[in-house]
Amino acid sequence: MAILEYLSLKPHNTFGIDVCTHYFTRVQSKQDMIHLITDEFQYYNKYLIIGGGSNILLCNDFDGLVILNEIEGIELVKEDEDAVWIKSYSGTKWHDLVLYCVNNNYGGIENLSLIPGTVGAAPMQNIGAYGVELKDTFDSLEAIHLISAESKIFKKDVCQFGYRESIFKNTEKGNYFIYSVTLKLSKKPKVNSTYGDIQKILDEKNISVPTIKDISDAVIEIRQSKLPDPKELGNAGSFFKNPEVEKSIAEKIQQDFPSMPKYDLPNGKIKIPAAWLIEQCGWKGKQIGQTGNHAKQALLIVNYGNASGNEIWQHALNVQKSVESTFGILLEPEVNIIT
Ligand code: EPU
Repeated sequence: MAILEYLSLKPHNTFGIDVCTHYFTRVQSKQDMIHLITDEFQYYNKYLIIGGGSNILLCNDFDGLVILNEIEGIELVKEDEDAVWIKSYSGTKWHDLVLYCVNNNYGGIENLSLIPGTVGAAPMQNIGAYGVELKDTFDSLEAIHLISAESKIFKKDVCQFGYRESIFKNTEKGNYFIYSVTLKLSKKPKVNSTYGDIQKILDEKNISVPTIKDISDAVIEIRQSKLPDPKELGNAGSFFKNPEVEKSIAEKIQQDFPSMPKYDLPNGKIKIPAAWLIEQCGWKGKQIGQTGNHAKQALLIVNYGNASGNEIWQHALNVQKSVESTFGILLEPEVNIIT
């Protein structure tokens, strides 16, 4: 395993930030990762594991070892009459896994089409879109402890999945390398077309009995129409999480803004779209220097070319501050900020 020195991370983060790492290596097998932990980690003061680099903001040069996860593959591990259990290694591109499942008519993750990033990053933040979250099909994952190098299986019930949350962002943060993820998918898929524009697109195409391929195609169409391709315009998807607030707070805001969109949550709280809050504060489509909020989706912060990570982070803090002073709501970043 070669350890390279002084490499630009620009190709390895979807914001397209041109920072440099002191050391860089690629892992392509479990053995590579175990070797790194047991024989190499002692020589570096810190390390950062990167998959697709689609949910990070790199603010500065990295004075440590960056590990690029290239452990790829998809396997059918078990099946019965109704379901299949698909194991995918963590460096596999998430959308490749979705396409594999859609093409084999294994249902459950078609609404999660075209989400950038790798399979290993998916459980970290319980990725979700168009009415579906990873946890809905998640069975288990295998992770490697980053000190002992021992493997451990995490079943769904211990992963503490929530909205963009899991145990790997909380009590087990930084403790494990996710090696593989196993999903339980349906061989008799039921489609979920209730969210947003999916049904509208199906109607336009006169599709009355949609297949999971139809759903996947519709989601791809919606995403491509609103969300910029990071290859053309650097971004990391939604920059902030949608805040969940007490009912009384939502009602107070609604008195001044009767058109405020909101979703009732099972826990009695109210979810308000962060994109709406940001748009009300005048940030939608606003460019400041090399950064700004996207014109079609205010929740996306983009890199118009040569923004530095710190410039983007400073902009995000300004957006956060103005939403807080207007609405009294503190937006929490969804993207991992690496300072
Ligand atoms: N809205 C605005 N202004 C905008 C955009 C949206 O006011 O510029 C309002 C509209 O009322 C709209 C609502 O916000 O109905 C929700 O917008 P949208 O459906 O685009 O979804 P979102 O809540 O902004 C979330 C996820 C996305 C996911 C979409 C679709 C989070 C933080 N983001 O965005 O995930 O694709 O739903 O399900 O939950 C990501 O995590 O990177 C990501 C892109």
